[in-house]
Amino acid sequence: MALDIGFVRKQFPAFSEASLDGQAFFENAGGSYTCQPVVDRLTRFYTQRKVQPYAPYEASLLAGAEMEEARARMAAILGVETDELSFGPSTSQNTYVLAQAFRQWMQPGQAIIVTNQDHEANSGPWRRLAEAGIEVREWQIDPDTGHLNPEDLENLLDENVRLVCFPHCSNVVGEINPVTEITAIAHAAGAFVCVDGVSYAPHGFPNVGELGPDIYLFSSYKTYGPHQGVMVIRRNLGQMLPNQGHYFNGDVLYKRFTPAGPDHAQVAASAGMADYVDLLAAHHGCDATGPTQRAAFVHDLMRDYEVELLQPLLDAVADRNSVRLLGPDKAELRAPTVALALNRPAEPVAAELAKYGVMAGGGDFYAVRALQGMGIDPNQGVLRLSFTHYTAKSEIDQLLQALDRVL
Ligand SMILES: Cc1ncc(COP(=O)(O)O)c(C=O)c1O
Repeated sequence: MALDIGFVRKQFPAFSEASLDGQAFFENAGGSYTCQPVVDRLTRFYTQRKVQPYAPYEASLLAGAEMEEARARMAAILGVETDELSFGPSTSQNTYVLAQAFRQWMQPGQAIIVTNQDHEANSGPWRRLAEAGIEVREWQIDPDTGHLNPEDLENLLDENVRLVCFPHCSNVVGEINPVTEITAIAHAAGAFVCVDGVSYAPHGFPNVGELGPDIYLFSSYKTYGPHQGVMVIRRNLGQMLPNQGHYFNGDVLYKRFTPAGPDHAQVAASAGMADYVDLLAAHHGCDATGPTQRAAFVHDLMRDYEVELLQPLLDAVADRNSVRLLGPDKAELRAPTVALALNRPAEPVAAELAKYGVMAGGGDFYAVRALQGMGIDPNQGVLRLSFTHYTAKSEIDQLLQALDRVL
């Protein structure tokens, strides 16, 4: 079954918006367009339910119920228990809170492992544990390819390591890391695992339960939803780490690592992402009754479509002398987040592309350590071209023609 791109684009108001007509969007790794079910739920919440939730009157009960629905349905999609999922303001803020919890739980002399492939959100907060006497070890990428080698991780592990942090997929290298394999290596050494899934989840929600990490994070403003950070913390770890929320909420797993009051409307509207998955599944003839199975079906549908569109783009850039493609040149190995190091600063090139109706960005994308690890000056930055399953083939063609002119 092939993805019905016409149907997909009808679910996104941006594609019928006159001001965006003719503009091909290639900065999706920065933030995606929002799907109609999310927009509808946000509008309904703000117009009909914008009251303090969980009080015993109709509007409030509906508001609370919709927030619960969002957590339950997103947890089911991700293959975890409902109370193992929580919503925070952003992934950066979620890792910050988690790092405080680890700081309290760990002893000086114990160790954590971070990578230099990660976005700073899954790196800096953990590295600051060094201030509390915790040893920080860096799992380094290959300077030529940006690849993270699991064998190198094995050499860094010993009985002192309590946590290994790495990305499911880097926002500049694009390579999909083998989460299950890496998690097994870390678990065998007695360490917990924290995976930044921000650059992966927009290309199909993963079954986190099956993948196996203890923590999995992504940002719903990049997965067609509202501006939230979605955080899965498996029960064992969540109950063991010190509570970071109000003391009287400490028994409620999903409240333990979200000290701020939640953004009610955005949490509720997150159920729209589950609506969207179900819409796609139903339209494409999926007869699975469970949400996890429907999500897996939609994941594969998106992935197959994206891989097909991605290879011509990789082929077009890989052969250019003036361009260094970061990460693999085989579409099956990576997400459609394509960063190019040029022989000049990247941002003016993105501005050139804008003249041809291509919306893209240039810079370090907060992956400063990854760029430095590959010998790229972060000030010069990279040109990043990122798309998703709602990108049309004609937009790839538009991009390729524009690249011919500006590169
Ligand atoms: C791979 C990756 N991780 C983490 C983040 C941070 O997410 P947030 O903006 O929700 O803090 C980003 C944001 O671009 C990202 O690309």
